[in-house]
Amino acid sequence: MENQRPSWTSRGAFVLAAIGSAVGLGNIWRFPYIMGQNGGAAFLVVYLLLILTICFIPLVAELVMGKITKKECIGAFESVNPKLKPIGALNPLTGILIMSFYFVVGGWILNYICLGFSNSEITDFSEYFSIFVQNSYSNCIFTLLFLFVCVFLTARGVKKGIEFANNILMPMFAIILLFLIFSALQLPNAHLGLEYMFKPDFSKINPHTFLTALGQALFTLSIGMGAMLTYGSYIKDDKAITKSAYTIIFSDTLFALMAGVMIFPTIFSFGLQPDSGAGLVFVTLPYIFAQIPHGNIVSIAFFVLLFAAAITSGISMLEVAVAALTERMKFSRIKACITAFCLIAVIAIPATLSFGLLSDFKIFDKTVFDFLDYITSNCLMPLNAFFICIITGWVMGVKGEMFTQNRLLAGLFDIGLRFAVPAILLGLVYIGLK
Ligand code: PHE
Repeated sequence: MENQRPSWTSRGAFVLAAIGSAVGLGNIWRFPYIMGQNGGAAFLVVYLLLILTICFIPLVAELVMGKITKKECIGAFESVNPKLKPIGALNPLTGILIMSFYFVVGGWILNYICLGFSNSEITDFSEYFSIFVQNSYSNCIFTLLFLFVCVFLTARGVKKGIEFANNILMPMFAIILLFLIFSALQLPNAHLGLEYMFKPDFSKINPHTFLTALGQALFTLSIGMGAMLTYGSYIKDDKAITKSAYTIIFSDTLFALMAGVMIFPTIFSFGLQPDSGAGLVFVTLPYIFAQIPHGNIVSIAFFVLLFAAAITSGISMLEVAVAALTERMKFSRIKACITAFCLIAVIAIPATLSFGLLSDFKIFDKTVFDFLDYITSNCLMPLNAFFICIITGWVMGVKGEMFTQNRLLAGLFDIGLRFAVPAILLGLVYIGLK
């Protein structure tokens, strides 16, 4: 049974797949808009602090739990103690909620690929976007199309597709980002954007900044919904988990920073609002595309590559639910994928409609889309990460000395895993629920 599980061909393949999972819409779409809503540079400082130190621990814990148990998410918790099964089940559940709004944004990207912006008569892209998201029918179709592509690739057991996307498309994505950064920095008043991003005003920091920064850090690293645990369970004999974890964190952070340096100078150059919310990237980028030669081709290329980055993340989310259904319920891969498709579609459609037909329907004062985004990043992912730390640290007895000979670092890891990080995570879940 154990031998039938898939496994990575090499450490490189694993690290690339994990980076593929981490780098996605979280970096390019979510990071700039969350930063824009939470005080710019001050948020960045808190975010970097959290992602470079605290998030390292739940990331390693998830990978190790997968690697030791060699099970899909629910089975991994169950094998530690059968009573922990419901906690394990919270992971694919969180994943389904995340996918339900993530795939809406994936649908917007598909739609933008079809649009191509330069030479169009549009001059006000903010207004354009606000009308665009209200178009319920086309957005529903594109959301379902995006979901279908992810499900299709996952059903085919995609290894080749994912590796292609990671090896070829991601470097291309980095190159096009660099090109757009270069173009953005040439714009008038670009320096104001850089100041906004790098000159912190610490008076803007409050407990919510920490909560939001942590939610973003967990989201972007794919921690707290079983994706890294599942990918970790396909690791054969990797001793360098901590090294892999830092490679994942650094690559992911680099992509987020690049997205910021591309977006904020453009915002300030065109007099847009950094805190305008979820449409930020979709409103800002067309202004650059409209400025540069062959902007429509660059626009299509950019959104195709962003689509590829979103797909590699989407697949890693789906894999959690699909692995649970195939390994636990003995579903065939196809049946598991169809089941996941239906479950996600049922929630993703109202999320898509929350910008149009359902814009007045609120849950705790938030639209369906905003509610799903908030509850997953700020409550469920930190909660799942908390359980992972507690279970690996206290029940499974994972210790820092397993990863390093340096006693100081090992000791710090132990304190972090058993006390400090779970306490911080729980504190933030509490703030999130208040
Ligand atoms: N990390 C992905 C991104 O930044 C999103 C994601 C979240 C993927 C959770 C898997 C699990 O886009």
